Amino acid sequence: MPAAHAGETGAALLQQRCVACHDLQGPAPTTLTQLFARKAPDLFYAGNKYQTAWVAAWLQQPKRIRPAGMLYLDHIKPGVKRDMVDSSTLKPHMALNNDDANKVAHALALLKPYNDRIKAVSHDPSISPGPLGEMLFDKIYGCMACHQIEPDFGGLSAPEIFTAGKRLQAAYMLSYIRSPQAWDAKTWMPNKHVSSPNDQKLVNYIIELSKENFDE
Ligand code: HEC
Ligand code: HEC
Repeated sequence: MPAAHAGETGAALLQQRCVACHDLQGPAPTTLTQLFARKAPDLFYAGNKYQTAWVAAWLQQPKRIRPAGMLYLDHIKPGVKRDMVDSSTLKPHMALNNDDANKVAHALALLKPYNDRIKAVSHDPSISPGPLGEMLFDKIYGCMACHQIEPDFGGLSAPEIFTAGKRLQAAYMLSYIRSPQAWDAKTWMPNKHVSSPNDQKLVNYIIELSKENFDE
């Protein structure tokens, strides 16, 4: 499309180009019917969740985050040794130009209905996961059954975790790990009842992973 929408505000762009797939109003699905109808991640609390610089950059060059899309079962074919992602059924995300991407990212950053949840946690970057980080994530809490810790290594049913430290705010990750259902009542992520400071170590492990620049 030519620059027909030049001069639009970020909020207007969201309404025109994003609401067909993304929920910008809330609340998150509370029934399975609503869950299965969800086409894309909820964005109505984007300002409490994402790093704005990441949003602006990703929208210009989107790369897949959920290896099997929003609904794992829709995009899986049985493999010989394990199930495989049928990527022919996954469509690439639309890309925006620099100007629109920045406008939209700033409009999304204003959507902060859950400041109270974020204020209720205190991320401590000084608690090093040390060599235990991967063991906590993989063996002790079984997070890797669903999340990849590097490309093609880990589960396929949830967002890749090796870019999450760039994508997400640390306090959001801490709050979500403590209680996934408080954020998304029907999410498949189980509450693993991670005790402190292991919750902080997991968040700091995820942040360390993202520094390895697997996505570049
Ligand atoms: C045709 C449906 C569709 C449209 C239209 C669409 N998106 Fe998306 N969007 C998706 C899907 C599906 C994902 C998940 C992609 C993945 O996991 O790889 C996604 C992911 C995202 C993400 C990453 C968030 C996350 O947690 O993974 C952002 C940010 C985003 N979209 C913003 C937008 C914006 C802004 C617009 C409008 C300019 C838009 N999208 C239009 C389907 C859509
Ligand atoms: C049964 C599968 C499963 C397990 C096990 C699991 N998760 Fe998740 N996780 C999910 C799903 C599903 C989502 C949200 C999906 C979405 O946004 O599309 C999620 C989301 C997340 C997010 C936010 C990611 C994002 O990009 O929005 C983080 C951080 C996270 N999980 C960390 C963990 C940690 C740490 C553990 C172990 C304590 C864990 N997960 C165990 C399925 C799982």
